[in-house]
Amino acid sequence: MPVRNSAQGILADENIEKREEIVELLKKAYWMEIETVMSYISNSINPDGVRAQEIVESLQKDIQEELGHAQEFAQRIKELYGVVPGSLDFAAEQSYLQPPERQTDIVHVIKGVIEAETGAIEHYNRVIETCDSVDWVTQDMVITILHDEEGHRRLFEGYLREYEAEGLA
Ligand SMILES: [Fe+2]
Ligand SMILES: [Fe+2]
Repeated sequence: MPVRNSAQGILADENIEKREEIVELLKKAYWMEIETVMSYISNSINPDGVRAQEIVESLQKDIQEELGHAQEFAQRIKELYGVVPGSLDFAAEQSYLQPPERQTDIVHVIKGVIEAETGAIEHYNRVIETCDSVDWVTQDMVITILHDEEGHRRLFEGYLREYEAEGLA
């Protein structure tokens, strides 16, 4: 392979360590999105009751968006000469998005979603900072994804506010 000089940013030979660091952060982001897809599928189907409808529909819509994020992270891992990990490397972390005891417990779901989105927001802010001045493309991609997650969290904070106003949360 020809020498990739320093004018080539994150693809430059001299930036290999930085590139590997970013690839590891992207792998974590990829798994977070995959787990969120799993959690949102179950939480968009399990809930019972009239009040659950809005939450269920909102999560159904998010599933496709989170799946798209996972694909974007995977693509970027490859572009940075990494390998998208296989399923055996997966380790679940979202204890807060497990099915509640009662399937009418919508507040449990809303709080779990807010926690998942907050985790994504924190990790993606870190990725954006790590990319600064060296990997503009990943940074730009993750900024857009971060915007989606901020929107998701705000929406669910609004749902929680309604339950709090009624003394149900
Ligand atoms: Fe996402
Ligand atoms: Fe999200």
